[in-house]
Amino acid sequence: MLDGLHQEHINMARLLRDVLSYLSEVSDRQHHPKEDVIYDYYLKYRCQDPDMPTQLLEEHQKLITAGAELRELVEMILMDAVIPQDQMAAKLEQFIVLQQRHLDYEEKEVFPLLRQSLTEDDWRHIEQSWHNSGAEDPLFGHQVAERYRDLFERLQHNHD
Ligand SMILES: [Fe+2]
Repeated sequence: MLDGLHQEHINMARLLRDVLSYLSEVSDRQHHPKEDVIYDYYLKYRCQDPDMPTQLLEEHQKLITAGAELRELVEMILMDAVIPQDQMAAKLEQFIVLQQRHLDYEEKEVFPLLRQSLTEDDWRHIEQSWHNSGAEDPLFGHQVAERYRDLFERLQHNHD
């Protein structure tokens, strides 16, 4: 029975590793940079206030660091290191809160501001400057990348 529980821990750690790797690959390297491009454009051309906060950019940086720390911990667990459960749970909880707060901040403050400040022309400019770097999402895109197969199946299963 303990062997079974041990195996379940490994499965959970692997799944967590896939989630974190997805967040780092897509969120940190594609999604946030896209928001940064839009927000930079806004600050440069449409913002009247020279003291406009750069909170968005700072939060993106913080999320990168927090994700890397958590990933390191998960890797250690997968290498059989003994990590106290409360330490792991606290780190995970912090990370989730940070992500959630960030999403709320964007949805409630940043997006409405951008929506009301940027013109159609602005969006066209931004779209063009982003166009070249647009890679497809490896989990929610047309094709699921091999490295996210397990995660994809798990998500689908939870949805049924
Ligand atoms: Fe975002």
